[in-house]
Amino acid sequence: MSKTIIISNRLPVKISKNKGKYVLTKSEGGLATGLGDVYKNGSMLWVGWPGIEIPEKDQPQIAKQLASLNLIPVFLTQEEINLFYEGFSNEVLWPVFHYLVTYARFEQTYWDSYVAVNEKFAAATQNAFNEGDKIWIQDYQLLCLPSLLRERLTDTTIGFFQHIPFPSFEIFRLIPWRDKLIEGMLGADLIGFHTYDDVRHFLSAASRLTPVTFSSNIISKNNRQIIVEPFPMGIDYDKFEKLPLQRQVLAEIDNFNNEKSGRIALSIDRLDYSKGILERIRAFELLLQLHPKFIGEISLFMIVVPSRDTVPQYKELKEKIDQLVGNINAKYRTLDWVPINYFYRSFSIETLSAMYSVADICLVTPMRDGMNLVSKEYVASRRDDTGVLILSEMAGASKELNDAIIVNPNNIGDIMNAIVEALTMPVEEQKRRMQLMRALVSKFNVKRWVSNFLSRMDDTKLLQHSLKTK
Ligand code: F6P
Repeated sequence: MSKTIIISNRLPVKISKNKGKYVLTKSEGGLATGLGDVYKNGSMLWVGWPGIEIPEKDQPQIAKQLASLNLIPVFLTQEEINLFYEGFSNEVLWPVFHYLVTYARFEQTYWDSYVAVNEKFAAATQNAFNEGDKIWIQDYQLLCLPSLLRERLTDTTIGFFQHIPFPSFEIFRLIPWRDKLIEGMLGADLIGFHTYDDVRHFLSAASRLTPVTFSSNIISKNNRQIIVEPFPMGIDYDKFEKLPLQRQVLAEIDNFNNEKSGRIALSIDRLDYSKGILERIRAFELLLQLHPKFIGEISLFMIVVPSRDTVPQYKELKEKIDQLVGNINAKYRTLDWVPINYFYRSFSIETLSAMYSVADICLVTPMRDGMNLVSKEYVASRRDDTGVLILSEMAGASKELNDAIIVNPNNIGDIMNAIVEALTMPVEEQKRRMQLMRALVSKFNVKRWVSNFLSRMDDTKLLQHSLKTK
C-alpha cells in the first residue's frame, strides 16, 4: 500500500537521557503539536531528527524503537547540530524570516552543513520510499530537500509546507544563498504557506531570483508546474474542546479557581525573541503603572517553554525576562498577590487545558509568527464562550481570527489598552466574539488542513499531466 512520508527536522517525539536510559517525550512547537496526532491515523511514515546526538553504537536500538511508531530517525552529529540546526536554521533563516535581520550570522560553514544535512535527509527518505508514495516536507530547516528528492525520485508527488513566515523580497535577498534556497524549494509540486502574504512574498522572490515563468500562483519550471497556495493551519478542535471535561482537568480547574486572586491573563510561548515576550511584560507593567486600580485585580500567567537555549540570543532573552519579571514582582507584589506568575518549563496538555479554561484573557502578541496555534487552542477551550483573545496583527492567525482584539506588538500602549478593553468587555460581547471564532476554528481544523493539502498535491499532479498531454 502506498503511503505519505512526512519529513521534518524534528520528529514528533524527542529523545532525552535520564539516568543512562533513553526516554521518549513529545516534541514542542507548532509543527509537532499540530501534526503529531494526525500522522498516527493515516498510512504515514515520519522521517526526522530525534532531538539529541546519539552515539553510533546506540543508533540501531533507537531506530528499532522508533520504527514501531512509524518514525524513521535521521541521526545528527554534534557538529551538524551546531552548524545546521543552531547555525543556519536558527541563526540565519529563523531571524531573517522573522524580519530580525540584525540577529543573523551569515557563515559559510553554516550553509555547507545545511546542504549536507538536507542531503542526509534525502538519503534517509529515499531509503524509506516505495513506488507510489507521496512526500510531504515540512518547514524551513529543509528548504533544499524538495530539489534533492526531485533529482532522486523524478516523478514523485512532492509537497512542501513552511510553518514560519516567508519575508518580503527585500529582506529575503539579504541571504547570500537566496537563489539556491528558492531553487531547492522549487523541487516541490505544491508549495504551501499559512497566509496569502507569504505566498505573495515567495512568488516575488522566485520571479526575481530564478528563470521561471508565471501565471498567477502557478510557476512553470523546466516544463513542470508548481502551485503555490495559502493553507492556514488548524488545530485538533475536538481534542481541545473536550479536554476540560476530563476528570483530571476538572480537578485542576477547581484548584486554580480556589487559589487564584483576581482575574488571569495567560500567555504561552516557546522561548523566542520573535514572540514579543519582553514587550508583553512591559505592557503589563504599564497597566499597573497607569491603571493602579488593577493592582491585585489581574495577574499575568506567563509560560515560557525552554527552547534553543544554546543559541546565544535565546540565552540573553532568558536573562532579560528573568530580570524584568523579578523587578516587576518585587515592585508591585502584595502579601497575597503576585503580578506575574512566570514558569520556565513545559506543562502537560491537561494543565494547559485547565489554564486555558480559567484564563479571562489570552495574550498572544508575537512580533512575527507564521500562524500561532496557541490562539486557536485558547478559543477551542472556551466551552462557555467567555474570555477575550488579544492577538498580534503580525501572527498569521490574525488573518482568520478577526474577532480577537488585534494589536500592534511594537506598541506597548496599544497592548495595555487592549488589556483594559478586555477587562471591561461585557460578557455578551465576549460571547459574541468567541462564538464566531469558535465556529471558524472548529470548521478549519487540522484534519481538514491535512486533507486539503494532500488532495491539492494530487490536483497538482493532474494539472501537470493534463498540460503534458495537450
Ligand atoms: O513551528 C515552527 C518550528 O520552528 C518548527 O519547525 C519546530 O519544530 C518548532 O518550531 C520548534 O522549534 P525547534 O525544533 O527548533 O525546537
